[in-house]
Amino acid sequence: MKLWAGRFHKELDQKTNDFNSSISFDSRMAKEDIEGSVAHATMLGACGVIDAKESEKICAELQKILAEIEDGTLEIDREAEDIHTFVEGELTARLGAAGKRLHTARSRNDQVAVDVKLYLKKQCKTLHGQIKELIGVLCKKALENSGVVMPGYTHMQRAQPITFGHHLLAYAEMFQRDLSRLEDTEKRMDECPLGSGALAGTTYPLNREMTASLLGFAGATNNSLDGVSDRDFCMELAADIAIAMVHLSRFSEEIILWCSWEFKFVELDDAFSTGSSIMPQKKNPDIAELVRGKSGRAIGDLTTLLTMMKGLPLAYNKDMQEDKEAIFDAVDTLHMCLTAFVPMIDTMRVLPQNMRKAAAKGFINATDCADYLVGKGMPFRDAYKITGELVAYCIENEQTLETVPLDKYKTFSELFDNGIFDAISLENCVNGRKVLGGPAPENVCAQAKRVLQKLGVQ
Ligand code: ARG
Repeated sequence: MKLWAGRFHKELDQKTNDFNSSISFDSRMAKEDIEGSVAHATMLGACGVIDAKESEKICAELQKILAEIEDGTLEIDREAEDIHTFVEGELTARLGAAGKRLHTARSRNDQVAVDVKLYLKKQCKTLHGQIKELIGVLCKKALENSGVVMPGYTHMQRAQPITFGHHLLAYAEMFQRDLSRLEDTEKRMDECPLGSGALAGTTYPLNREMTASLLGFAGATNNSLDGVSDRDFCMELAADIAIAMVHLSRFSEEIILWCSWEFKFVELDDAFSTGSSIMPQKKNPDIAELVRGKSGRAIGDLTTLLTMMKGLPLAYNKDMQEDKEAIFDAVDTLHMCLTAFVPMIDTMRVLPQNMRKAAAKGFINATDCADYLVGKGMPFRDAYKITGELVAYCIENEQTLETVPLDKYKTFSELFDNGIFDAISLENCVNGRKVLGGPAPENVCAQAKRVLQKLGVQ
């Protein structure tokens, strides 16, 4: 029996019913739907809108329904239009008239908005915890690798010497911003729309603050039209997730490169790698590739939500039923990716000798050579030009800045003396980069500890 049966003379066409229904994807909010109903019924009882005894009966039965859904004794009817209809139908089947009073002063429009918010608030907490765990792993690995010299790249060309710990902490920064974006989104999500009714509030003397606080919201929404038609919290969370997935995707791309024989900077644990069905030698970074691929889904989910909302007049429109599959997919995607990604990073073996070898090629200390001349009083532009000529000489003669003898250096500039070899030693180059935010091992250790402390991990 449809909720709206009174006005209609016919049943909804079967295939149209399937099209119209959202039960296949909103039944995951069964718990939140029941929590919302319990709070609503409690408040109706407290305000005298329904009888206090009846309110108690409703709440007790709703809790029973929830327990039965959770232990599998009550199956959710796939023919129901949505989870709200199913729960109310089940309650009414059990309690008769009392069940029919639950929906007093409520609409599915404010109900669905509160359900989605309650559900997403929990998901935010889970994702927050997972991202925090990832940052913890990154800081731990940064501490272990604070002195590991590697080439830093621009344009995928070896550029300047950095430390592997520094490289990892760059990602720790990105993921910290993801955390703060999530926190921000949670704050704005923290308003309860129950009591907005279908769109125009209600004439019943509701205590909306009470429902809000029973459900753990910081407060109630201020405008009934906005309360039922706002989906900013979905779009914001999807944006947060898309950005976090872009970060994971960039990191994955680097891991994929680092696993190649051309780099061999790291080796993934067997538990987080796959083989080939035909090539016996292969060890593939499938997890990282899949995370990189799945970032596309998250971007798609955000696009779906933005496009779905962009032309909607106030207040509720059925288009908005489409919010759930998109935001649930985004949440699931980030959750699954982090579940595999965090232990993959945690168990990844770092190969410092290979990083060091790569750092020795590509003239990544050329800037330091120029800076050495600047230290001797030469203007930077002149020092830059002379060092460029030196590099050209090295390339033509298959040398590096370390192998060129001092006599030869002097033909480029009289200012060179034996100190140049210290100045271009890669260890000295990274140790000297102590400027705030720089890659020096002491910076890396201090920063990793600061982050761990801030997160309360250590
Ligand atoms: N299943 C609907 C949704 O997900 C619930 C709200 C239905 N409201 C309505 N007026 N048809 O959006």
